[in-house]
Amino acid sequence: MSDDNQPVKCHVQDEIAWVSFNRPDKRNAMNPALNRCMMEVLDELEYRDDVGVLVLKGEGTAWSAGMDLKEYFRETEALGLRGIRQSQREAYGWWRRLRWFQKTTIAMVNGWCFGGGFAPLYACDLAICADDAKFGLSEINWGILPGGGATKVVTDLLSMRDAMYYTLTGEMMDGQTAARLRLVNESVPADQLETRVTQLANTLLEKNWVILKAAKDGVRRVNEMTYDNAEDYLVRAQEAANFHDKTQGRKEGIKQFIDDKTFKPGLGTYDKTRNS
Ligand code: ACO
Repeated sequence: MSDDNQPVKCHVQDEIAWVSFNRPDKRNAMNPALNRCMMEVLDELEYRDDVGVLVLKGEGTAWSAGMDLKEYFRETEALGLRGIRQSQREAYGWWRRLRWFQKTTIAMVNGWCFGGGFAPLYACDLAICADDAKFGLSEINWGILPGGGATKVVTDLLSMRDAMYYTLTGEMMDGQTAARLRLVNESVPADQLETRVTQLANTLLEKNWVILKAAKDGVRRVNEMTYDNAEDYLVRAQEAANFHDKTQGRKEGIKQFIDDKTFKPGLGTYDKTRNS
C-alpha cells in the first residue's frame, strides 16, 4: 500500500503497521497534503485483521518538525477563515482519529519533535524515543502559543512547573529528559529504537485486541470522570467488550488458568490462539 512519493508511507509486517511521516526534506513538517494522506492511511489500516499495532515514525532525521509554517499557516491563512478552519479540521481530525484508534499505537520518535508534533505524540498510546531525539514547544520562539492541543498535551503529561517552563522558554529537551518528565515512556539509544519498539509491539500483539481497545479508551476517558462515573463507565465498557469479543477471551482465560492450569494471569498472557 505504500508509495514513496506520498507524504505518508506505510507497510504492514507481522501484524505491525509501520506508518511514517514522509517529508524528510522538510523535516516531516505537517502540511495539508500530509494531514489528508494520514487520515486516508489510518482509514485503510484501522479495521484490517492483519494489523494489531500501529507504529508512527518519521523518515530521515525528524519525527515531525510540527506544523508546516509555510503551507499550514501562511498559505491557508491567505485563503481566509474558511481555509484556516479547513486545514485545522484536517490536522485535528487525524489526531483525534489516532487518539481513539481501534488498535494500540506506539510513537517511535527518532528525531526532532516540535510544536504540533506533540499532538500525534500524545495521540499514540505509548511512546518510545531515541536518546538523541529532541522535543520542543518552539511556538513561543516565533510568536504564537502552543495551540492545536500542544498545551493540553504538556499539562496532561508533565507537572505544571515543567509544562510552564517548556511552554515559556521554548527550550528543547532530549530523549532521556522526555522520559524522565513522562512525555514518553522510555528513551533508548538510537540503534536500539526499532528493536525495542518491535518488542513492545509484540507484547501487545499477544493480548486480546478487543480488550486492548476497551482498556486504552478507559485510560483516556476516566481521567475526566468522578470516581463513581468511572466505575460505572468501566462496568459498561467491559460488558460492551464482552459482546464485541467473538472469541470470548475472558472465559477462555479463566478456563486456561482454573481448569487447564496452562498459564498464570499474574505471570503472562493466556493463549488466545486456543479457543475451546
Ligand atoms: N515548516 C515548514 N518548513 C520546515 C519546517 C516547518 N515546521 N521545519 C523544517 N522545514 C523546512 C525548512 O524550511 C527547510 O526547507 P528548505 O530546504 O526548502 O530550505 C527544510 O525543512 C530543512 O530544514 P532545516 O532547518 O534546514 O533543517 P535542520 O536539520 O538544520 O533543522 C529543525 C531542523 C531544527 C527542525 C529546523 O528545521 C526547525 O527549527 N524547524 C521548525 C521547527 C518548529 O518550530 N516547528 C513549528 C512548531 S510550532 C507548531 O507546530 C504549531
